[in-house]
Amino acid sequence: MTGSNDRLLEVNDLTVHFHTDRGVVQALDRVQLFVDRGEVVGLIGESGSGKTTATRSVLRILPPSARIAGGRIRFDGRNLLTMSEKELNATVRGRGISLVPQDPFNSLNPVFTVGTQVRDILKWKGGRGPSGSIEMERALDMLREVQIPSPWEQLKRYPHQFSGGQRQRLMIAMALLPRPGLVIADECTTALDVTVEAQILALLRGLVREMNVSVLFITHDLGVASQICRRIVVMYAGQDMEDAPSERLFERPGHPYTRELLESLPTPGGDIRDIPGEVPSLLRPPEGCRFHPRCPSASADCRRKRPEKVEIEPGHWVRCFHPVESQP
Ligand SMILES: Nc1ncnc2c1ncn2[C@@H]1O[C@H](COP(=O)(O)OP(=O)(O)O)[C@@H](O)[C@H]1O
Ligand code: SF4
Ligand SMILES: [Mg+2]
Repeated sequence: MTGSNDRLLEVNDLTVHFHTDRGVVQALDRVQLFVDRGEVVGLIGESGSGKTTATRSVLRILPPSARIAGGRIRFDGRNLLTMSEKELNATVRGRGISLVPQDPFNSLNPVFTVGTQVRDILKWKGGRGPSGSIEMERALDMLREVQIPSPWEQLKRYPHQFSGGQRQRLMIAMALLPRPGLVIADECTTALDVTVEAQILALLRGLVREMNVSVLFITHDLGVASQICRRIVVMYAGQDMEDAPSERLFERPGHPYTRELLESLPTPGGDIRDIPGEVPSLLRPPEGCRFHPRCPSASADCRRKRPEKVEIEPGHWVRCFHPVESQP
C-alpha cells in the first residue's frame, strides 16, 4: 500500500489506546486505510470495532483518555500527527476535512436559527475570499442542492422545526460548504428510517460525484455501504481485516470474518444467522489475529502472530494467514 499522487488520506499502522479505570482498551491495532481523490470508501464493522476511533484520530478529536500509541496519518501530503492544534484548526478541521455526524438532533444548536449557524460556518471559514453576500448566496445554493425547499425561508427557522431527514440534509450542506477535500460521514443515516435513508444516500451520491469530493463513509450496515461505496474496508475488534472494491467484497470475500458477516445478512426469508462466539473485550484482546477465537480456519500461527495484509488480486487486500480462496 504505497502512496500515490491520487492519495488524499493515508493511515498507516494506527494504534490507539484508551486509558481507563478498568485498564487499557486497545481500540485500534496498527490499522491501515487510505482514500484516493474523488473516491467514496466505506469503513464497516460491528459496533465497537473501532470505526469512530479511527475517524476521530484523523481529525485529532479523540477524548482525553485516548493515546495515539503509534502510526502515521497523512492528509493531502501533510503529517496530521505532528501538526499543531492551530494549524489543524486553520487548515484541516471543518475545512480540508469535514464531518457529517450520526445524530443531526444534537449536532445543530437548538437555540439559534439555522441561518445563524450557516452564517457562523461562513464567518469561521475566515476573512479571505468573496464578500459575505456572495458567500450567503452560495449557502442558499447549497441548501437548494440538498433539496431543502425555499431555503431563504428555512434559514429563519430553528432546528426543531425540521424533520430528521431535513436536518441531515442541512448537516450535509454545512459539511460541503467549506469545499472540503474529504467528508467523513459517521453513521450519518443510522438514525433515519429506511425511506429517508435511501433518499439521503442518493443525494450524497449525486453530490460527491458532482463536487468530486472524497468520502469516508462509516457504517455498521453492509447494505448501506454497498449503495454508496466504491471500495470497502472491513474492521473487526480494532483490526482492519479486508480492503476491496465493493463488488469484489460481496462476490468474493477473502477474509473469513467478511464471509461470516455476509452470511449473517438477513436473507429474503428474514433470517439473520449469527456469527458463533462473541466480540472480544479490547481490554485483553486475543493475541495474533483478533478473529481467531471465532474463526473456523484458525491455525497455531493465527493465535500467535498478527497477519500482514496480502493482495489476493489487484486492489484487494486481506489480513489473514489463510484467505478464503486458498482453502480446499
Ligand atoms: N472514551 C472511551 N473510553 C474507553 N473506551 C472507549 C472509548 N471510546 C471508545 N472506546 C472503546 O474503543 C473501541 C472502539 O470503539 P468505537 O471506535 O466507538 O467503535 P465503533 O465506532 O466501530 O462502534 C470499543 O471497544 C469501545 O468500547
Ligand atoms: S488469520 Fe487465521 S484466525 Fe485470522 S481470519 Fe485468517 S484464518 Fe482466521
Ligand atoms: Mg461509531
